[in-house]
Amino acid sequence: MKKKRIGIMTTGGDCSGLNTAIHRIIRCASLRGWHVIGIQDGTDGLCGTPRTIDLTEDILPIENARLSGSFLHNGHAGALNFETAIERNRVKQFNRQLRQSLNDLKLDALILIGGNGSTSLAWANHEIYQDLQFVCIPKTIDMDMPLTDRTIGFDTAVQQLTSFCDQLMLTARSHHRWFVVQSMGRDCGNLALNAGIAVGATAILIPEIKFNVDDLVAHVANAPTDYGIIMVSEGITLRGHSGRPADMISRKLTAAGIVNRTAFPEHTQRSGDTTACDRILATRFADCAINAIENGETYVITTLECGECKTVSLAEFVAAGDSTSDPKIPGLCTANAYVDPDDPLLSVAQDMGIYIGNYK
Ligand code: F6P
Repeated sequence: MKKKRIGIMTTGGDCSGLNTAIHRIIRCASLRGWHVIGIQDGTDGLCGTPRTIDLTEDILPIENARLSGSFLHNGHAGALNFETAIERNRVKQFNRQLRQSLNDLKLDALILIGGNGSTSLAWANHEIYQDLQFVCIPKTIDMDMPLTDRTIGFDTAVQQLTSFCDQLMLTARSHHRWFVVQSMGRDCGNLALNAGIAVGATAILIPEIKFNVDDLVAHVANAPTDYGIIMVSEGITLRGHSGRPADMISRKLTAAGIVNRTAFPEHTQRSGDTTACDRILATRFADCAINAIENGETYVITTLECGECKTVSLAEFVAAGDSTSDPKIPGLCTANAYVDPDDPLLSVAQDMGIYIGNYK
């Protein structure tokens, strides 16, 4: 069988687990005698003269494969990408350039490790990839991608956010006060919900569930402790109020005489050494992607469904998502997923006396 030449690209926001996925792809490919090319800075690395690096295991050694970030980088702000190409009215030239660069690199296949924005964009512009096999691997701390029970980076982000709250809990107890912690996650509450349960938060507010702020305040005022964590997802809104969600909630608590502080873990949720779960997932997705290439598949994405790792077509993946228009990219709808109303964690939270809003 012909030895393949495959490319890897990481796009969108970084997360922990990308390097493990890259490392495992290199491992699987080199066992087959394939050549692996890393494309640097996402699509930016395909503009102009392609910026690439030959990937071998000594370039990304196994002991570094657990580190967060992307060894290949995810792109510069302001560089030519799908978003800026639309702004500059250069979509056709941009797409032509990407296709040409992939041909110049003589790639048989490309693996894109991306979130729902990247994969939706890839499908919307799939003519770029028509001359090679195109396989996606899902990654994001937001866990907002359809048809997969897990995305690379989510488990580490939950761990990072949990550890952040664990530290706050100790100082909160010393001063008899509350911390309103604002999690990332965009308009999906999975990260806040999972970390909130892990840390034993007193309240968890997520965009998928409406809440009544007076009920929240009363719940905190009557809690069995006078300290703790109120987990607020960055995607929540409070009618008549503006500003950061944690600040809005904090002001309401202060007005009711509840002593509190806000805390913003921000991008630490995207960093941290990759957890064992994320490393296992990255390894499984890498193996699945390489097998898909070997089997001649294209325009597919790896998914985990009920413990089984498999590929589904990008068309099916995009159609299964909740189609949401991207404010930054006119005409693009991204395939989103949200916390399922039947997610067992919601009823567990309720049983544990955690305030989660108007749920059931
Ligand atoms: O999608 C991942 C994510 O970390 C979101 O949770 C967050 O809202 C956003 O990216 C932050 O983006 P940036 O790195 O551009 O500030």
